Amino acid sequence: MTAMLAVKDLQKSFGNKKVLQDVSFEVERGHIAALVGPNGAGKSTIMKSILGLIPTNGGSLSVDGQPVRINSHQALEEVGALIEYPGIYPFLTGRQHLELFADGKDKSADIDSVVHAMEMERYINVKAKSYSLGMKQKLGIAQALLNKPELVILDEPMNGLDPQAVKHLRDVIKEMAANGTTFLISSHILSELEKLADTVLILNKGVIVEQTSMQQLKDGTQTVFAIATDDDVRAKKLLTAADIALAPGDAIGILQDERGGLDSALRLLIGADIHVLAVDHVEGDLETSFLNVVNAKEVR
Ligand SMILES: Nc1ncnc2c1ncn2[C@@H]1O[C@H](COP(=O)(O)OP(=O)(O)OP(=O)(O)O)[C@@H](O)[C@H]1O
Ligand SMILES: [Mg+2]
Repeated sequence: MTAMLAVKDLQKSFGNKKVLQDVSFEVERGHIAALVGPNGAGKSTIMKSILGLIPTNGGSLSVDGQPVRINSHQALEEVGALIEYPGIYPFLTGRQHLELFADGKDKSADIDSVVHAMEMERYINVKAKSYSLGMKQKLGIAQALLNKPELVILDEPMNGLDPQAVKHLRDVIKEMAANGTTFLISSHILSELEKLADTVLILNKGVIVEQTSMQQLKDGTQTVFAIATDDDVRAKKLLTAADIALAPGDAIGILQDERGGLDSALRLLIGADIHVLAVDHVEGDLETSFLNVVNAKEVR
């Protein structure tokens, strides 16, 4: 089956500064792909390239098998997008914004449906000049979702949304994906997309450094037990001498691996008459494993 979105060997420079190098990835229909990377990694540039908004310096892009170029946008009819900041006209109401973008047979019903989905009924008929940051952001997302596109590209969509709105947006996106809509969503915070995306693309300095499933990334996170004793200095020496894997840092963090770790550490400490005062289970941290990937594969 053709991928809904295919990016192959994409290159982009601004002047003589290379900002994307050989970027290749595919997103299958109905999948939610997270494009994650630090500020300046090139996330927005990838999205603008896919949308034919900026010229590229090589590579190919296709949406549902149709090529996209700067002057050939036909493939983009089925694409909805929000890039960087929503373009808001202060003197139009939210509904008037959506009317400008609606292109279905029953515009009014489509608008009602997206307004309902995004929970914007309360202020949709008010002029956008009085909108808060989060309300503007929701309007931008509503525009991207409005015409029931096959592919939706959202650049940092959670910006400015409160936790309840974030959770609600996740539910809306998941439901659309379950009905076959494909999503490419960027963020500089991996954990923000943890409960949403099934595919993860990690971008650093214009290069995709990791392409994996969210599940695999989560499985790779390490379990750590933080322990406190009545003599941490001696405890640490003993554990190090016994070759028990410890997390970096001053506190004592036992890394749990397939051989165990915690039980042998405890036996050793108790045997040496050191009192273990507390043991805390530290959740495997996705953000740390993301930073590890970015740092380990740092490119020149
Ligand atoms: N119009 C432009 N002219 C020159 N350089 C640009 C332009 N747009 C982007 N860049 C550069 O390209 C690189 C990638 O920028 P991009 O906006 O794609 O990053 P990003 O991953 O979206 O970052 P952020 O998380 O801050 O949104 C940066 O080094 C940026 O300075
Ligand atoms: Mg950006």
